[in-house]
Amino acid sequence: MRLSELLYSQGFGTRRLCAGLIDNGLVAIGGQACTDPGAEVDVNAQPLVYTVQGQSWVFQARAYLMLHKPVGHECSHRPGAWPSVYTLLPAPLRQRPATGKVQGVQAVGRLDQDTTGLLLLSDDGTFIHRMNSPRHHVPKVYEVTTKHPLDERQLSRLTTGVVLDDDPKPVAAAGAQALGEHHLQLTLTEGKYHQVKRMVAAVGNRVEALHRSRIGGLALPADLAPGDWRWLGEGDLALLHAAP
Ligand code: URA
Repeated sequence: MRLSELLYSQGFGTRRLCAGLIDNGLVAIGGQACTDPGAEVDVNAQPLVYTVQGQSWVFQARAYLMLHKPVGHECSHRPGAWPSVYTLLPAPLRQRPATGKVQGVQAVGRLDQDTTGLLLLSDDGTFIHRMNSPRHHVPKVYEVTTKHPLDERQLSRLTTGVVLDDDPKPVAAAGAQALGEHHLQLTLTEGKYHQVKRMVAAVGNRVEALHRSRIGGLALPADLAPGDWRWLGEGDLALLHAAP
């Protein structure tokens, strides 16, 4: 791949801007400055490390990342009342060009403004679809703080199924466990709008705080602070398809 094309694919701006960065000696590969925008780079050499204006990057053919979503952020490119989660990503991740039908890096499903926890982002349409599709049954684990004490009846209704206001077909949690009087761990394999809040309301309780701790076998790492992100490695991607 030509060096200018490589930078463009990784989100460093228009092709003209990328060529300008290279012309001006601001790009290095493997520690060597490279001033030829047409230089051929072997993107299959793993990992391909390059620097742009002194900052180090690893070439990623497709972007797969996790973000510890903090409260007060919307999972939308055009947020209404709150800042967008995309503002928490560095510019090249926000600017990656479209791949197929996917317009750059997208959140894999949405968390509410006041929900915290594990949010995946990618520009791989097949991956996004697989993670979101209820047919693939990828379990998502939520830690719920409830307003009222939990009881056995609420837990059993959550797993046998409750009817929400937009669909006569009951929805059931794959798991509902009380970890404390006001602490529910709920596992869902689909992602309807406000699903946790609506299911908990349907059994006569109320969500006070909501945190997604795990998707499949991948847990939000304890050392990833709210607002921080990191690339997903091969091992992380494999865990997403494992049981929680
Ligand atoms: N269910 C909700 O109600 N809100 C979320 O953010 C995620 C799941």
